[in-house]
Amino acid sequence: MSELAIIGGSGFGAFPGLEVRDTQPVETRYGTTSAPLVHGLIHGQPVCFLARHGPGHRLPPHRINYRANIQALVDAGCSSVVALGAVGGLHPGCPPGTLCVPDQLIDYTYGRVHSFFDDESDGVRHVDFTEPYSEALRQQLLTAASAARIALRDGGTYAVTQGPRLETAAEVRRMARDGCDLVGMTAMPEAALARERDLGYATLAFVVNWGAGLSDEAITMEAINAQIERCADDIGRLLAVFAEQRTLPAG
Ligand code: HPA
Repeated sequence: MSELAIIGGSGFGAFPGLEVRDTQPVETRYGTTSAPLVHGLIHGQPVCFLARHGPGHRLPPHRINYRANIQALVDAGCSSVVALGAVGGLHPGCPPGTLCVPDQLIDYTYGRVHSFFDDESDGVRHVDFTEPYSEALRQQLLTAASAARIALRDGGTYAVTQGPRLETAAEVRRMARDGCDLVGMTAMPEAALARERDLGYATLAFVVNWGAGLSDEAITMEAINAQIERCADDIGRLLAVFAEQRTLPAG
């Protein structure tokens, strides 16, 4: 089986429980990845970990070289990506602490290099993006969560904003009217680039605050970091079971 990739977002500059075997800086034809690729094992299953925001969380969402990151995972032989993402909750059923595998997204970002088909040398391919996430991976994550007795919300629409600032209350109201349940800054162009390279891709989102204007409390980095810490253990356990289940014959 090919290597599983985990892209770590805010709070996941490294992956707890990964037995590290090799760490490699990677240069691709699209430039350098956010961080070296860390190859290791979770439950004997080969996993390739990439810290999306780079060492020390230095890269803001709009400065990430998403193309280099996805190309490096392809070149490393990965065929599936689980992308971790801290998000704000928009739907009343998504309070801070919720873990969710969204099944749709709306892209509100701008000015990001968002395609591998960008100049004449690459030709043009219009990939089908009707379902932006891999249903097979989403189901595997849901199965793993249920085996680990971790609540995982099935489905939802992820609004991808430009950042790095958070939203205005009116922007949040608009996204909720658009049907969005979660808001974050990194699912695009990452998900679309994965599709362009035929990589299976699913987001494991964890809600770290209410969307702007949905709660009386100010959104602070301290509160967000505290919530990330509260989610980290469940995410580590869920992915350990997920990796373990990939080693078992399907049945
Ligand atoms: N908005 C956008 N991105 C986020 C948020 C938010 O409220 N929380 C965590 N990432």
